[in-house]
Amino acid sequence: MAKKPSLAAPKSKALIPYEWPGSYFLGKEELAAAASVLKTRSSFRFYGPNLQGYADRLEKAYCERLGRKYALAVNSGTSALSLAVAALGLGPGDEVLLPGYLWVSCIAAVVRAGAIPRLVDVDDTFCMDPTDLERKIGAHTRAMLLTHMSGAPDAVDKIVAICRDYKLPLIEDCAQANGASFHGKPTGSFGDLAIFSFQLNKNITAGEGGLVVCDDKNLYRRAWACHDLGYPRTPQGRLDTSALQLWGQGSRCPELLAAVVFAQLKKLDKITAAMRKAKYKLRARLEGIPGLSFRRVLDPKGDTGPFLLMIWEDRETCLRMVERARAAGVQTGSLGINNVPMTDGGLHIYYNNLSLVEKRSLSAAGRPWTDPLNAFVANYEYKKGTLPVLDGLIERSSLLSIPPILSAKAIDKIAAEFHRAAR
Ligand SMILES: Cc1ncc(COP(=O)(O)O)c(C=O)c1O
Repeated sequence: MAKKPSLAAPKSKALIPYEWPGSYFLGKEELAAAASVLKTRSSFRFYGPNLQGYADRLEKAYCERLGRKYALAVNSGTSALSLAVAALGLGPGDEVLLPGYLWVSCIAAVVRAGAIPRLVDVDDTFCMDPTDLERKIGAHTRAMLLTHMSGAPDAVDKIVAICRDYKLPLIEDCAQANGASFHGKPTGSFGDLAIFSFQLNKNITAGEGGLVVCDDKNLYRRAWACHDLGYPRTPQGRLDTSALQLWGQGSRCPELLAAVVFAQLKKLDKITAAMRKAKYKLRARLEGIPGLSFRRVLDPKGDTGPFLLMIWEDRETCLRMVERARAAGVQTGSLGINNVPMTDGGLHIYYNNLSLVEKRSLSAAGRPWTDPLNAFVANYEYKKGTLPVLDGLIERSSLLSIPPILSAKAIDKIAAEFHRAAR
């Protein structure tokens, strides 16, 4: 179990005491960093009375960690996704392939740019199935958006190879897999661009926050200009309209946010190691329950461990097992959502995104769906039934959150309750 954090966590008698990994470890280091920003009255990252340079330091730390040339701290993972799409210059006439198990922000980034999302099915990794990905590449495909879901990476080696073959850029969404790796190489180091989130549910957090990384100077310059007001800045933090002229989306990272994430980053490996250990210990204890299998994790050493995805024989068994285990206390209490059927996964599941299913628009003209350049979208469906493998899997799967502070006693009890429920 990881060392006790220096701030008191909310008291909970629930068997699974807490769900938000990073926030449990907010401690005196984050307080000191945030205090230094407030004391110097300098939370705007580009200029101020006495800049502490936390956004710069956070970006440098991510570049070093991932072996990337450029990093850009922003205010959320959702912003980071939009910036990746903007950096690639995607828009009307372009199609982006993305998996059906994802987060609403992935779809929104594409649609808001005027481009078209096309859904790719998953396999038993619950991540993009490389075979379906290749099958879906068409005349309008301009990029892939890969979401490393529920803590562990996709078959990223195969997907990178496909992107190379078809000369398509890859955006890696590492919001749920910060600190993960694939056979020793960190997630966030594979894509042409990769994004991170520091929202409350994530492995490290400041409540909000995000980051974009890449190696290409042009992509970085575009993302940089768009994250601010559409223009670069001078070293003095003043807008420089001479070099590049784009449109900004106001996604700057405040120093206060960067200070907290910078302090959290030092704890990331400790947090993920604790979750991984607890997850695989529990998983081993659950082996042998008739009909139970687990999400296939391609490289368990690179899994960050915040979620255990359990696959049951059929939907009835899934619902019954979840209900019995919950009744025996396998849940988080009033604080969060835990030990639930995956069909309760809200906007993580493509068909629960009604804006997508209904092809909703922000504009009266109905763009991007009605844009003549996107006429090919008429053949695309987004309703349930579009991705048969994912649909079938999540009907009979459940999700259990694994906090980094799960005690050995709690692991034993959770396993015992599932075995009892199975009997
Ligand atoms: C896969 C995925 N992508 C993107 C995001 C968006 O991050 P944020 O909440 O920081 O906007 C999330 C966060 O919930 C996520 O789970």
